[in-house]
Amino acid sequence: MDGVTALNERLANARRVTVMTGAGVSAASGVPTFRGADGLWRTFRAEDLATPEAFDRDPLLVWEWYDWRRKLIAECRPNPAHEVLAAWSANAGFTLITQNVDGLHEAAGTRGIIRFHGSIWELRCADACGLAPWQDRRAPLPVLPPRCPGCGGLARPGVVWFGEAIDRGVLMRCGAAVSCDVFLSVGTSSIVYPAAGLAHAARDTGAFTAEINPTATDAAAALDLAIAAPAEKVLPLLRWSALKA
Ligand code: APR
Repeated sequence: MDGVTALNERLANARRVTVMTGAGVSAASGVPTFRGADGLWRTFRAEDLATPEAFDRDPLLVWEWYDWRRKLIAECRPNPAHEVLAAWSANAGFTLITQNVDGLHEAAGTRGIIRFHGSIWELRCADACGLAPWQDRRAPLPVLPPRCPGCGGLARPGVVWFGEAIDRGVLMRCGAAVSCDVFLSVGTSSIVYPAAGLAHAARDTGAFTAEINPTATDAAAALDLAIAAPAEKVLPLLRWSALKA
């Protein structure tokens, strides 16, 4: 496969490897992506379902959509791409940043994940009453919209919606992770910022940067390498065992 040998040569000399994943890494598991032919944003409008304003307007509609996605994802299992990254995460020099909220990297056993856009399995108080976010894996949820057990107000999905800021702690951990030897951007359309900026930040620190995506993105031109093939086929061909510092 074009580019795999070149990437393996880079990985052979890499102490620090950072991988950023997007929806494409879960496509082979049956989780719909957002953009592209069967993408969720072809059928649904993000403005109606994934913004704070949409939730204020119609929390039940937003929750019905998230509950539908939770039920769909609950049936999905990690694929070989998730499994390779889980194995790499045993190395201290590895960091996984994911935009995915589906929990499949966790299900594969990946350690130390940076969840850029939160988790669909986490809920939090919509009024920020002070209760810490909590896990709820029930799908379907018994009552929609769910309530905050702390104050009785509305609960909301623990995900980052359009127009919302990324958690500062997450941004700080990403800032450290982009300083690496090899940065891989896997299964993302690379158009949603600030996530899409991480590959460029990595390149600016001197990392070798590569994209793995069956359809090369516009962002690929600025990277060192683009491998135009599915993540679940490419990642099992990659070889990395961290060099000792
Ligand atoms: N392997 C690798 N990439 C794939 C595969 C596959 N098997 N199948 C599809 N892809 C690619 C598509 O070509 C596309 O470029 O995955 C990408 C998915 O892009 P998006 O659907 O835009 O997903 P993502 O980049 O994760 O979206 C970013 O947008 O709406 C939001 O918050 C949501 O986190 C998400 C963010």
